[in-house]
Amino acid sequence: MAIAIILVLVVVASVLFHLFAPWQMTPAASNWGSIDTTLLITLIITGIFFVAITLFMAIAVIRFRHREGSRAHYQPESKKLEGWLIILTSLGIVGMLAPGLVVYNDFVHVPQDAAQLEVFSQQWQWAFRFPGRDGKLGRSDVKWIDAANPFGLDRNDPAAQDDVLILNNEVRLPIDRPVKVLLRSKDVLHDFDVPQIRAKMDIVPGMVSHFWFTPTKLGKVEILCAEYCGVGHFNMRGHLVVEEQEAFDRWLASQPTFVQTLASAAAPSQESLLEKGRQLVESHGCRACHSQDGSTSLGPTWKDLYGRSEQLADGSSVQVDEAYLKESILEPNARRVQGYPPVMVAYTFTQDELGALVGFIKSLSAAGQKEQGPASATDDRVAQGQQLAQALGCRACHSVDGSQGIGPSWKGLFGKTETLADGTQVKVDEAYVRESVLKPGAAIVKGYAAVMPVFTPSDKELDALVAFIRSNADADADTGKVKPGKSP
Ligand code: CUA
Repeated sequence: MAIAIILVLVVVASVLFHLFAPWQMTPAASNWGSIDTTLLITLIITGIFFVAITLFMAIAVIRFRHREGSRAHYQPESKKLEGWLIILTSLGIVGMLAPGLVVYNDFVHVPQDAAQLEVFSQQWQWAFRFPGRDGKLGRSDVKWIDAANPFGLDRNDPAAQDDVLILNNEVRLPIDRPVKVLLRSKDVLHDFDVPQIRAKMDIVPGMVSHFWFTPTKLGKVEILCAEYCGVGHFNMRGHLVVEEQEAFDRWLASQPTFVQTLASAAAPSQESLLEKGRQLVESHGCRACHSQDGSTSLGPTWKDLYGRSEQLADGSSVQVDEAYLKESILEPNARRVQGYPPVMVAYTFTQDELGALVGFIKSLSAAGQKEQGPASATDDRVAQGQQLAQALGCRACHSVDGSQGIGPSWKGLFGKTETLADGTQVKVDEAYVRESVLKPGAAIVKGYAAVMPVFTPSDKELDALVAFIRSNADADADTGKVKPGKSP
């Protein structure tokens, strides 16, 4: 009897719970109603079966309980009962599946006036692409993916040039405008899931799946990956922000186009420019005559040369600027500084090389350093590295706040001494960080699995990444000094 009462109470409580549940959400997208209706139909059908079966158990417990002298009968089959059960279950299943077909049909049939948004997924992060002013997304293929072209767009396709690329996990959409969402994967199966807008679809490498919806509520909701895609799956999260049209337009205009990202990837950094200048100086033997420390030699020293006023051989004077430096390299005797013999031969350099040489000479004087801003160059690199860490998906496994991840946290990593899987110890310095990015399996820190994919960033990108990792070091680790009691 007690069991029968419990079963009845379970039924009553379940029904009451669903009728009076306080967690009703406000619809946030156009497809909300239809998808929720199908869910409700499923809930009602399964609910009816649940109530019926549980009540039947309660009745059976009472009616067929053990009694003195009564015996059970053997009843092999009942055609009539089986017939009814088959009909009822079939009706239930059809009732659950049929509405879904109608709703799904609507979900993938995009209205004419829908805008486009491409969702680009990879282990373990999201990126997004909007068509530019032409309203057309350019051709894409994974075979075109490289460090400067993370979306794999066709560089020769005119429609691709103005595509707007969002290389981080947050995307925005304008309210009340239908949008067609195209789903593309770079590597493995993922699933784009935004529960609040009732949208969820698998992303299959090699194909582009799609659906549409109209956001109808302002705010920020979470994007999840709902298909197990590797160790970083749980961290593959993003955000969708729905805002007013003007705010969205302003945001979209501030994002880089494909052409702009290509250009910024190709532009040489201050660092590599100086390095190129240094190499040219070495290979052309400039230092035989021009010192860099202020000592006198056959030609003027380069130390603090830039910005200085020099007395020329003909008695006039000149302020040493970029134009004068370039002229003096190409035609050494055109305006020679007084007191030096006309022994320098004319050199021919390309404009790029000339720029690198002048940049290097500038870096040797206080006036030039002020112009080039060495400090801000480092800041730039850190910012670039931060962006890159986001774009490449490093942050899915490496935290910057010290929290546990799949890989070592970057907080305080630089300058630390780590024990490797083989028991040896290593001081985390530039060389080790570089090696670990390029060859992750070479020297794994103890306790971590060998799951990191190999990256092939350009030299400039590697510089930026290392600078960013370094910027997360503890303040005193950056000086390069070994802390007392912590010898490697
Ligand atoms: Cu991507 Cu799970």
